[in-house]
Amino acid sequence: MSVRLGVELGKLAVANPIMAASGTFGYGLDLLEFCPPERLGAVVTKGLSPKPRRGSPTPRIVETAAGMINAIGLQNIGVEAFCIEALPVLRQRGAVVAVNVFGERMEEYVEVIERCEREEGIAAYELNVSCPNVTAGGIEFGHDPAQLERLTRMGRAATRRVLWVKLSPNAPDLVGTARAAVDGGADGLTLINTLRAMAIDAEKRRPVLARGCGGLSGPAIKPIALRMVWEVHRALPSVPLVGIGGVETGRDVVEFLLAGASAVQVGTAIFRDPAAPLHILGELERFCAEHGIAEVRELVGALEWH
Ligand SMILES: Cc1cc2nc3c(=O)[nH]c(=O)nc-3n(C[C@H](O)[C@H](O)[C@H](O)COP(=O)(O)O)c2cc1C
Repeated sequence: MSVRLGVELGKLAVANPIMAASGTFGYGLDLLEFCPPERLGAVVTKGLSPKPRRGSPTPRIVETAAGMINAIGLQNIGVEAFCIEALPVLRQRGAVVAVNVFGERMEEYVEVIERCEREEGIAAYELNVSCPNVTAGGIEFGHDPAQLERLTRMGRAATRRVLWVKLSPNAPDLVGTARAAVDGGADGLTLINTLRAMAIDAEKRRPVLARGCGGLSGPAIKPIALRMVWEVHRALPSVPLVGIGGVETGRDVVEFLLAGASAVQVGTAIFRDPAAPLHILGELERFCAEHGIAEVRELVGALEWH
């Protein structure tokens, strides 16, 4: 049985629902031979700021029982280098590119978008208002609905391309922030970013990460991410959602789609297997074929409840 894999996220139609998550796939070029970016629904870039950033001191990654904690601190090459060095390759290969945008001030988000607007070959922007690993910016905007609405409005005014806001699982009011982003003009929401977490070295009596805390990702957060996708979908059923958090198998994707996501992003799984998004896509296709599901989109929001 052949399965139609395409899904729609509002005005953005993608060939399949598997995307590479920001920060785990570089700028889409490092893993070309393992995972050609044009075979994915979309690739989301590492968070880009107006100027290059060096990120946090090391150690800044630690493996945990069911995932990892990172405190990269948004190291990136800056939007200019991305547009000159990476984007032309992605464009030439026909990849669907979503640029993850980060700023310490709201104006910096707009600067990144404005620079990208001069380029062809970008399908969407994803505003990162949820990184727990930086001292300024991002997360403050993601936790306060009024600020988030303002930031989203500024982003909206800067582009007619698809605009997503990436929600924080650490925000006190998840649905309130989701609503604020939509009120500000977001076309869709991506969720979740990492959860604030810590690892301690018992011998040294010190935190493992130089910054003390970081963001937890991987299978450990999947049940939380599923619950959050489900809650936001129930509150805002017409808003396209991209589910993120611990996706490792085709079955995980099915679970996120049932909860209300129209697509998923794969992050930590790529660290173990750089071709993980393709393997997951193959598993999803097999799952659908075995269960008589002709179109992946049938699964979106199809959770039976009560
Ligand atoms: C090393 C690393 C770097 C990340 N960098 C970013 C980033 O720059 N911007 C962002 O929005 N999310 C970033 N994330 C969060 C991921 O995109 C994703 O939301 C999170 O890891 C949960 O998905 P997963 O469990 O599949 O990894 C990063 C995650 C990791 C592990």
